[in-house]
Amino acid sequence: MNFDFTEEQIMVRDTAREFAARELDPVAAKLDAEGEFPADKVAMLAEMGFMGVAIPEQYGGGDMDYVSYVLATEEISRACAGTGVIMSVNNSLVCDPLVKYGTEEQKKEILAPLAAGEKLGCFGLTEPGAGSDVSSMKTNAVLQGDEWILNGEKNFITNAPNSQFAIIFAYTDKDAKHRGISAFIVPMDIDGVSCGPKEHKLGIKASHSSSIFLEDAKIPKSYLLGELGQGFKVAMTTLDAGRIGIASQALGIARASLEEGVAFAKERQAFGKPIARLQAIQFKVADIATRLDAARLLTLRAAYLKDVGKPFSKESAMCKVFAAEAASYAATESLQIHGGYGYTTEYAVERHFRDARITEIYEGTSEIQRVVIASNLLR
Ligand code: CAA
Repeated sequence: MNFDFTEEQIMVRDTAREFAARELDPVAAKLDAEGEFPADKVAMLAEMGFMGVAIPEQYGGGDMDYVSYVLATEEISRACAGTGVIMSVNNSLVCDPLVKYGTEEQKKEILAPLAAGEKLGCFGLTEPGAGSDVSSMKTNAVLQGDEWILNGEKNFITNAPNSQFAIIFAYTDKDAKHRGISAFIVPMDIDGVSCGPKEHKLGIKASHSSSIFLEDAKIPKSYLLGELGQGFKVAMTTLDAGRIGIASQALGIARASLEEGVAFAKERQAFGKPIARLQAIQFKVADIATRLDAARLLTLRAAYLKDVGKPFSKESAMCKVFAAEAASYAATESLQIHGGYGYTTEYAVERHFRDARITEIYEGTSEIQRVVIASNLLR
């Protein structure tokens, strides 16, 4: 067993760490306060190969492994969790299924600009009446001649307002239940595709989410992704990988909470000494750090399994639920260490507290992760 990173992985981590400190730390509070999409920072991430970290070079990607992707996502999210999810969605919910299920033409035409970060993508699975229960979606696609015609509504779609392509899931045969769902590549600028207003969210405000409306949206027959009726599987396998990305985002939020809690505890004086010398504070720091390390080990294991081509569905659900809950715990406890100051925007921990919460909800709630873990154990 070897816990050491390769030289390449260390290089990716350090590059992301330096970028986050130089480019994101100074603006993260402003991006949050103003709900501003960091287009310039996303362009810089693209230049570093971070919009398609583990995508082969021949398709515009960074040609690194999923462990590197975890390391990079943690570093970016440590500084700005909103930027972290913009990157994560493009990498694992959009580029990853295009690598796995795309035709050679789709890879050349659509994956390459997405992986290079010249274009941005989103993942249209959720609907107003279909969140955890994917099969209850209503969006449908009908083949007419050489075109698919899509109708329906997707909601809470991260990156939708800034994307050029969406992967959209729709019924092509309602009677076949989940085996009648198919996946499609939908350009966002065609007639019949529009976005609703940007959601007003609790956190990750640098990343924009909205509904996507499909009203007789016509796409070429060749934009079917994977096989007809394979969409549920495309969605599930994509989410297996995506959840590792969200776990990495949660690691970044937890680490920011820890580092800022420690710094505050060393500075803040009470009862004639820094509060870091009080056992009540020490226990909080110890518990945050232990959960963070456990979450990181689970996340790296899931990424490693994906890299070596072994099954990782259960492990990705485990890292997602554990890292998300560790991030919420870390932010809550760090805010408590900060006392009244932590409740103000003067300190970043209130942002981490808000940002952490979504990691327990999107790409499968913590309850769904437990369903996935249990169903793997109880088969
Ligand atoms: N890999 C491959 N196949 C899988 C699979 C996986 N991980 N999980 C399930 N399947 C297969 C099953 O083997 C089964 O196959 P058959 O066709 O042979 O029957 C089929 O899929 C149906 O499986 P289930 O009966 O288990 O399906 P279910 O309807 O009970 O749902 C679920 C299971 C785990 C609850 C699933 O629906 C789920 O993960 N729900 C959560 C959805 C989710 O994560 N949404 C997040 C939205 S995306 C987002 O948040 C993006 C964003 O913008 C940030």
